[in-house]
Amino acid sequence: MRQKIVAGNWKMNKTFQEGLDLVSAVLENGEEPRGLVVFGAPYVHLQAVAQLLKGQKNYRLAAQNCHQEEKGAYTGEISADMLVSVGADFVILGHSERRQYFEEGSAMLAQKTDLVLQKGMRPIFCCGEPLGIRESNTHVQYVAAQLKESLFHLNEFDFAKVVIAYEPIWAIGTGRTASSDQAQEMHAAIRALLAEKYGAAVADSTSILYGGSCNAQNAQELFSMPDVDGGLIGGASLKPDDFRAIINAM
Ligand code: PGA
Repeated sequence: MRQKIVAGNWKMNKTFQEGLDLVSAVLENGEEPRGLVVFGAPYVHLQAVAQLLKGQKNYRLAAQNCHQEEKGAYTGEISADMLVSVGADFVILGHSERRQYFEEGSAMLAQKTDLVLQKGMRPIFCCGEPLGIRESNTHVQYVAAQLKESLFHLNEFDFAKVVIAYEPIWAIGTGRTASSDQAQEMHAAIRALLAEKYGAAVADSTSILYGGSCNAQNAQELFSMPDVDGGLIGGASLKPDDFRAIINAM
């Protein structure tokens, strides 16, 4: 059985205290989640959020990025070792905003993936096509290339720790969600690609999350699709009631 996961990606939102209040509100108001809940908090919040999550069985902590080099003269950057030292379990890698605004390409993302795994954390690896690619009906090939270029050098053992997040760029922050059929089509195509490369057992146990304007209203329908194993949630993860409703839809 593969793991259901709902991961929040706060992006560059929430001051320190606002972030802690959000986590506390989510923890306080709910039944035990049916899968894993991950908080993708900004770097400066991580250590304190880790404290709040201590002893929680189904809650985990993610960073939103890390540098591809192990350490050294990279002013302003954050290393994988630093993330481990403050309690991060996951690292979101290859988000389309990182690809677009910070010029992160496939080779760099392959390096980051290796480092995150080497340090014992799990990547939440993002992929997804821009609108033009969707309109030209080449979205499956586009996403397949992203995964091949950054992940397919991994052996089966390492790959088994990777979580994939499919996030069509045209749906991120736009209020325009992919339909559950569009999400299912891509998730099934990704799983078929993984089966071809790593075998059916690995493909079946890989969690593939949907991201892009997933909210309290549409989460249930998206998550009901056979190959959608949860979500990577931006805007709606910033509001405790909405995020809780999405968690409950798992
Ligand atoms: P959104 O963002 O839910 O605000 O569309 C999703 C993401 O970018 O991870």
